Amino acid sequence: MRSVVSVGGVVTDADRAVVPVLDRGFLYGDSVYEVFWWHRGALIQAADHFARLRASAQRIYMDVPWSDARDADEIRRTVEASGCPPDGDAYVRLVLTRGITPIGLKVDGARDGAVVVVVQDAHRPAPAEWARGLRVAVVDRLRVGASALDPAAKTGNYMNNLLALHEARARGADDAILLNDRAQVTEASTSNVYRVFRGVLETPPLAAGILRGTTRTRILALCARHGLVAHERDLVASDLRDADEVFLSSSVRGVIPVVAVDDAPVGRGAPGPVTTQVHAWFEAEADAEAERARGTRGPAAAAGGGRSA
Ligand SMILES: Cc1ncc(COP(=O)(O)O)c(C=O)c1O
Repeated sequence: MRSVVSVGGVVTDADRAVVPVLDRGFLYGDSVYEVFWWHRGALIQAADHFARLRASAQRIYMDVPWSDARDADEIRRTVEASGCPPDGDAYVRLVLTRGITPIGLKVDGARDGAVVVVVQDAHRPAPAEWARGLRVAVVDRLRVGASALDPAAKTGNYMNNLLALHEARARGADDAILLNDRAQVTEASTSNVYRVFRGVLETPPLAAGILRGTTRTRILALCARHGLVAHERDLVASDLRDADEVFLSSSVRGVIPVVAVDDAPVGRGAPGPVTTQVHAWFEAEADAEAERARGTRGPAAAAGGGRSA
């Protein structure tokens, strides 16, 4: 498949897609976005993503120009243009910018906000890569506080996360774990974090200052359904170091094992049984959701001819 981009409904190769330089998304990161997993011909957890997009926009006083159905249609059209096979997987990024104003921070009268859909290869970890897991570092840089710029809003301003990742990589780690100003664990640079301790799954509460991950929501629901005790709990860095297992989650990558925290192995330094089980539940649920979506659309649509949301 090719990397393609739709800007306002016009689909081109990714490297030819443009948004004006006076767009506030470019100037200030004044935009909101979602990353969807297109899996086996279906948009996974679409309703959750669209709800979060609207909540993010509301938090920064931005209008969402299109209906969810129109966004979903445009995503489908862009995926089709990429040459992704009807039952294939893709990474889908939907970005809404506030658009253009006279240069300056005032948002009044913004016009021509861009609706952008980026489609590219999903780059999901192969089994051997998954089994190697990630090494994370608890970085010095703090997660920005909810009263400053609420991490619950998924905006185009990722400087906090980007600098945390840079710090982690400088220490030889693959990803960063950020603490808040109360020294509590929040999340990784682009994913939520969990620990398993004595058979119980724990993840920081929303009040720690995190993004409400769509994958996190699904994982907590799957644990409830399968009888695995899971709850939100304030965690500190030593809780991760002392854990039996640690993993991260995000929509395209799914469940990602962490094998080391600050250079110390987690458990036996390999993906643990609970992580492996949650990963299997998550993958099976996504497969079932894709199956249901393809069944609803019917064979013609599933083969690429449909325009359903
Ligand atoms: C900061 C942050 N936390 C958590 C997540 C995970 O969210 P989701 O599971 O909806 O992909 C992301 C995803 O990009 C993120 O950027």
